[in-house]
Amino acid sequence: MSSEYSVEFRHMTKKFGDATILSDLNFGIHRGKITTILGFSGAGKTTLMKHILGLVEPTEGEVVVLDTVIGNLTELELREFRRNFGMVFQYAALFDFLTSFENVAFPLREFTKMNEQQIHEKVMNLLESVGIAKEAAQRLPSELSGGMRKRVGLARGLALDPHIMLYDEPTSGLDPITTHVVYDLMRDTHRQNEHRGFSSIIISHDIHATLKYSDYIVFMEKGKVVEHLDVENFKKSENPVIRRFLEL
Ligand SMILES: Nc1ncnc2c1ncn2[C@@H]1O[C@H](COP(=O)(O)OP(=O)(O)OP(=O)(O)O)[C@@H](O)[C@H]1O
Ligand SMILES: [Mg+2]
Repeated sequence: MSSEYSVEFRHMTKKFGDATILSDLNFGIHRGKITTILGFSGAGKTTLMKHILGLVEPTEGEVVVLDTVIGNLTELELREFRRNFGMVFQYAALFDFLTSFENVAFPLREFTKMNEQQIHEKVMNLLESVGIAKEAAQRLPSELSGGMRKRVGLARGLALDPHIMLYDEPTSGLDPITTHVVYDLMRDTHRQNEHRGFSSIIISHDIHATLKYSDYIVFMEKGKVVEHLDVENFKKSENPVIRRFLEL
């Protein structure tokens, strides 16, 4: 795995019925970097992410992840391949009936042959790395604040040492301060793992956080990539749609 990109879209189009949702996308997401997919509601951001995970198949073209053409994998291979990803979704999506500890342990029990002692060590390290105190390990999600649930969700996403972290609006529903705490955490997580080519891909509406925390920005509108630039050049973009977004 030496290529410049962790994910590549090659002339990829997605249609649902007659509607073209993603249109001839042809670009790569840089390995080892934080890339934010930015755009108004309905632009196709979540659909793009589902293609990276192989949850949706392109109508035309292909998606290459970590040098593997996703469309060539069997269902079984795809399931195994998904271990390369960590995912954090909008509402943290923890199991309500499991403690923080058991939520984070879940992928380890499911996908590895680690024994109880190894699991305990790994889970407690992960919880510590996202700032969850020992006492909170035995609490249920309903006994945690929204920000803490995001932390536990992040710890669970990191459990299998993924190569790519995917975040779909990880801070929606959080107050502005907690939003920045979560972004700090995503950046720290990235920095801790970047030596091994770890890529973070974030879907966001939050222009201020995006400009502060990303290396690259992909701006989408109506299923097309309008601009794909590093942050400094993105700020200087003269595209009227982006100027409008930047002035919000
Ligand atoms: N399974 C599907 N069948 C038909 N249309 C779909 C399907 N999934 C998504 N769409 C349509 O694709 C378009 C893009 O949706 P998508 O969820 O990717 O947007 P988004 O950029 O993530 O928006 P938001 O910021 O609101 O989350 C929308 O018009 C949506 O209705
Ligand atoms: Mg979405």
